[in-house]
Amino acid sequence: MSSAEEFAKRNIPGFNISELIERMKTEEGKRLLNLTREEFSEFHKNNELALNEKWRKDQQRLKSKFCYRNSIWSGGEEIKFKFSDWDVNRQSNPQAAHAIAKQAYTLATELLTDSFNVTMYGKSGTGKTSLAIAMLTKIHEESGKSIMVVSTAELSSLLADQYTYQKTKEKLDDLKRALTEVDVLLLDDFGTEGGIISDLKPVRRDLQNYLYQVANGRFQGKKTTIITTNNVDKHFVQMYDPKIISRLVTKNKDHRILFNDMKDVREV
Ligand SMILES: Nc1ncnc2c1ncn2[C@@H]1O[C@H](COP(=O)(O)OP(=O)(O)OP(=O)(O)O)[C@@H](O)[C@H]1O
Ligand SMILES: [Mg+2]
Repeated sequence: MSSAEEFAKRNIPGFNISELIERMKTEEGKRLLNLTREEFSEFHKNNELALNEKWRKDQQRLKSKFCYRNSIWSGGEEIKFKFSDWDVNRQSNPQAAHAIAKQAYTLATELLTDSFNVTMYGKSGTGKTSLAIAMLTKIHEESGKSIMVVSTAELSSLLADQYTYQKTKEKLDDLKRALTEVDVLLLDDFGTEGGIISDLKPVRRDLQNYLYQVANGRFQGKKTTIITTNNVDKHFVQMYDPKIISRLVTKNKDHRILFNDMKDVREV
């Protein structure tokens, strides 16, 4: 038996025979051939640990891609925004604009290692979605946690479409898996599906059922949900079953970001 075959017979997981033969020609390969049984078993154990770690990272990367790919953007357009894009001078009160970005930044830093829900309240055009996306981006880049953005209004239309299109129904099943599994979910514009504030209606039963399953799965898995909304808490109870609200909307004051001092800066 050639030494290459002998080396290959040691059957190190993660390498095929031709790779092993190539490896055998290297200094490391020669060193491995001369290992005692105990030394080889130690090498084998470490090799397996390294492979398990690589497998775990690969799985995390795949999950990350699957979740982000399933994002549903408002109007179908992906938004990119980082904390460095936040311009305090867009607001008439730059100190308040600085303070609100600082609060979002601090919460995003805590979310690198912790998990809790965040709600961002405020009028239209004040920068809620932008800062929420800056938080998600920082969390993903610095901790590798998976992220996903879902426009609640678009989700509501998808649920309405499922009775017409079989494909939409299939998409909703994939989407539910991503929505439940993703580490950090942004539910953007939560509450718009209840209609105008002066005439709020309970949200359709199918959307409530769907969101309940997602909210419950996320609550049990201790995942983070960030909500942006134009509504306040008393509106939510007019639209949704309290079981959904208690799982999605934080009661912790420190985890609520209020955009009350921000003006509408959207350019039309
Ligand atoms: N401080 C800021 N610096 C730079 N751009 C900003 C700032 N505030 C808002 N913008 C920009 O203004 C526009 C509106 O902001 P954004 O969509 O985040 O508002 P919103 O509060 O989510 O509004 P809505 O409630 O209507 O969804 C976006 O193009 C956003 O990038
Ligand atoms: Mg928004």
